[in-house]
Amino acid sequence: MVKKKTCVFISGNGSNLKNLIYSSRNNNFPISIELVICNNKKAKGIIYAKKNSIPFLILNTKMRNFERIALKELKKYKIELICLAGFMRIISKEFINKFKRKIINIHPSLLPKYKGLNTFERILKDKEKKTGCTVHFVNENLDGGRVILQKSFLIKKSDNILSLKQKTQNLEYKAFPEAIVKIFRYN
Ligand code: GRF
Repeated sequence: MVKKKTCVFISGNGSNLKNLIYSSRNNNFPISIELVICNNKKAKGIIYAKKNSIPFLILNTKMRNFERIALKELKKYKIELICLAGFMRIISKEFINKFKRKIINIHPSLLPKYKGLNTFERILKDKEKKTGCTVHFVNENLDGGRVILQKSFLIKKSDNILSLKQKTQNLEYKAFPEAIVKIFRYN
């Protein structure tokens, strides 16, 4: 199988990056991670790129030209898929259009509910019975692109922000690889 060359964008812990690297070691998994782009030089997640000898680029996204630099690098590595895994920066419409239907994101709620930040706080405040995660294509609307896959669980009375986060992330580690398999199934 010819694997799709993939870049993962991160800003923080990188636990989804770690999980995707692990999945990509399987010969039957459709992608290989060729590049990591990070916009936070203190991000813990960079360690997973280093440990696995994956080239990484730390970009200051406060600089106006950051997308131009990123695009150059994506071209250099012939990147065919971008996975946003906790990337805390909105990317421009122009950038998205250059990678139409080739950028996917993981979000910690059952979209279209709870787009944006602080999802767990809002979910608890609204006394939701159920939550989960969503993998979706990225378009110009924040957390608004077509859903690829969702996974959910029931919220218990005893749940708090931390437990919801842990349960959601455990589902994310299944959802992200499954969504990638799903989008390349017929290719
Ligand atoms: C994930 O929970 C994801 O849903 C959100 O950011 C978090 C990133 O976590 N978009 P990690 O950096 O992969 O540990």
